[in-house]
Formats: sequence, structure tokens, C-alpha cells
Amino acid sequence: MHVLSDMGGGAPESVDFDTYELVLEQASRVRFRTALNEDMPTESDPQPTNEERNSLDDWIHCGLTP
Ligand code: HEM
Repeated sequence: MHVLSDMGGGAPESVDFDTYELVLEQASRVRFRTALNEDMPTESDPQPTNEERNSLDDWIHCGLTP
């Protein structure tokens, strides 16, 4: 399963968050796009709350412990 393509398509194949290892590889970009720039997920998709964006930011900042 490809999480982002299942969410409505449009995300490139290289952006794949199906496993912890794949998330680790792109962690700094995930943090940037979700917490700092706030342009992911794309506007047309369900949006996380600010609290959820902050939690994700904290988790990445603290080293992404599984
Ligand atoms: C929590 C959900 C999501 C996260 C964390 C996320 C994160 C990312 C990341 C890290 C990239 C790689 C580019 C970069 O380094 O900045 C990316 C690219 C992309 N994503 Fe997302 N994404 C999410 C949801 C979605 C959804 C739902 C779609 C569309 C249905 C989407 C469409 C795209 C597209 C088209 C690109 C390539 C163009 C671009 O970088 O703007 N993403 N995303």
C-alpha cells in the first residue's frame, strides 16, 4: 500500500511513508511541510489540527523514537 497515493493520488512515488524507515529518510522535509510551511497534506485533503501538527513537530524534533 502506498499511503499518499491511497489518499487521493498526486504524491510522487518517492514520497512514501508506509514504513518507519521511509519516514526517517524524509523526516526533516515532513517537519518542514507539515509544521513549518503547513502546505502538506494538500489543501484538498483532510487537514490535521494545529495540535496534531505540533505533536508531529515535537516527535520529529525529539528524534522520532518509535
Ligand atoms: C501528512 C501527509 C503528508 C505529508 C507529511 C507530506 C509530505 C511531503 C514531502 C516530505 C514531500 C517531498 C517534497 C519535499 O521534500 O518537500 C511531499 C511532496 C509532495 N506531496 Fe505531500 N505530504 C502529505 C500529503 C500529501 C497528499 C495527501 C498529497 C496529494 C494527494 C500530497 C502531494 C504531494 C505532491 C504532489 C508532492 C510533490 C510536489 C511538492 O513537493 O510539492 N501530499 N509531501
